[in-house]
Amino acid sequence: MSLRILHFSDVHLPLPPGAWRSPEALHPKRIAARLNFILRRGNKYTESLQKLNGLNEFLRREPVDYLLYTGDTLNFGLVREFMDAAPRVAETLTLARQGALAVPGNHDLYTGASPAHYERHFGPHSASDLPEAATSTGYPIVRWMGPEAAAIAINSSRPNFNFWNSSGHVPAAELEALGQLLARPEIANRRHVFLLTHYPFDEAGFFHGLRNARALLKTLQGHKNLILLHGHNHRAYTYFLPNSPVPLYCAGSLSKRDAESFWLFDLFGGVLNPRRGVWRNARFTLVE
Ligand SMILES: [Fe+2]
Ligand SMILES: [Fe+2]
Repeated sequence: MSLRILHFSDVHLPLPPGAWRSPEALHPKRIAARLNFILRRGNKYTESLQKLNGLNEFLRREPVDYLLYTGDTLNFGLVREFMDAAPRVAETLTLARQGALAVPGNHDLYTGASPAHYERHFGPHSASDLPEAATSTGYPIVRWMGPEAAAIAINSSRPNFNFWNSSGHVPAAELEALGQLLARPEIANRRHVFLLTHYPFDEAGFFHGLRNARALLKTLQGHKNLILLHGHNHRAYTYFLPNSPVPLYCAGSLSKRDAESFWLFDLFGGVLNPRRGVWRNARFTLVE
């Protein structure tokens, strides 16, 4: 049996016109972050819609069975951003032949009001194939991918009040539920289990990393069928967990100028063949 899976992340779509003309723009975090965005970030992502359309074109050219998306669709979690971005990402996710799974990034869950907006706009794409495994947070979410593979999503993003604090955290109840889920025979007996979340699986950077990465890695110990996927860092990379056969892939950003990337995985029985997608000559292509 063969299966093709594509993982992408951190699209950071541009702000639609009028997005700032709203009382929510006056949230202190957004005022400070807007200045930072103008000075440091914004010009690297001005063509992010073109890159998302480029991914759509790639998916029509090179169809995949499943799409896994690790969040950061937006920049400031504004309602107008949700309204503009959700249908665009939904269109992309429907291009997978069999299914998709998505988790939010910290730029999607930007303020205390954001989780409700996320649920309203992205909820329909986050239904679980095993709803009884979820906690009250709605996670972990399971997606069966044929008899030999599965994907599990946990949420490591949360609203932080200060714009300079973009740290993540996996709720303790989700970690416990994840531990129980990984021990279930229908998960433990699968050859490939993709575990996706927005934050990297490490504590690097107190204000940018996953605060309880150590507890998460402890939960994963001994599960050798895992493949870890994340975003948040806007450059692609891969490595094996120390003293472990478990590989980790950071998709980087689909749309950051001169660093556009995604990962494509071909599964042939027990073999996993990863290739990276890069932007060359105004289209996405694969490199070995
Ligand atoms: Fe991001
Ligand atoms: Fe992020």
